Amino acid sequence: MSQIVNELTGVPRTLLLPLRGRAEAQAHLNPLFQDPLAVEWLKLVGWDRELDALYSKAGKAFSILTAIRTYHHDQIASCHIANYSHPVVVELGAGLSSRFHRIGQNAYRWLELDLPVVTKLRHQLDTQTQQHQFISTSVMDFDWMDTLPNVAPENILFIAEGLLMYLEINEVKQLISAMRSSFPGATLDVEVVGRSAKISNKIFTQIGAPLKWFVKNQEDLTAMGLQVVNSWSMYQLYLERWPWPWRLLLRFMTQFPYFRNTYMIVETKL
Ligand SMILES: C[S@@+](CC[C@H](N)C(=O)[O-])C[C@H]1O[C@@H](n2cnc3c(N)ncnc32)[C@H](O)[C@@H]1O
Repeated sequence: MSQIVNELTGVPRTLLLPLRGRAEAQAHLNPLFQDPLAVEWLKLVGWDRELDALYSKAGKAFSILTAIRTYHHDQIASCHIANYSHPVVVELGAGLSSRFHRIGQNAYRWLELDLPVVTKLRHQLDTQTQQHQFISTSVMDFDWMDTLPNVAPENILFIAEGLLMYLEINEVKQLISAMRSSFPGATLDVEVVGRSAKISNKIFTQIGAPLKWFVKNQEDLTAMGLQVVNSWSMYQLYLERWPWPWRLLLRFMTQFPYFRNTYMIVETKL
């Protein structure tokens, strides 16, 4: 396949960050997961040098963090698929996630929802099947909710990995409220950023993707009607993946909720 010209700008362009993080994580002697597609897709889509302001600044940390978050969502999704008779996984703001190809074989359906500019790109790289389908829409255009497979809501796992922090708080509230009405009892596996993440917002704004929604802690999700089942600080997961000086620093820093809540994965029920 020859190089693809992508039209990514603004928030859609941020999909290149985790894609590169996953591709580079493959160079680890003992990677947490295998992701040959991330390596291949990054080569085909190409890197955008304007993202260097964010990616290169964080350097190795970015790749470690991406590997950790990806693997943890993989674990949640694998567990969901094993536990339900008709498991449906819906990645909201899917970007160029290759999770389906890693762990999705036993899912009843796997849906990748993203904006048209991203879905167009995915069509050039990936193939739709009856089991694995792409939904080209904004998550805020709630008609997509009527297009999901007709299964009991408990079968459905929504993954919002690196999405909601780019939405306004009112949009997040509307989205969660609409999802709760349509899919009561479904699982929503969500990433949130804490108020301490505001210090990196200058760089996100420079690349045209300002962060907009920050939480104090998981209770902000409870206040939106979500039932919190589990929550993890990204800086406390798989600590052995970090070089030892960082490990010590993270152990110390995560004693403080303000730092611990900088970046969290929260598993909830709608
Ligand atoms: C940081 S990327 C994360 C991509 C992917 N989840 C991952 O972790 O590799 C953010 C993604 O959210 C998508 N996105 C942003 N706003 C959206 C919206 N309103 N509706 C659907 N997708 C959206 C972007 O197009 C982009 O693919």
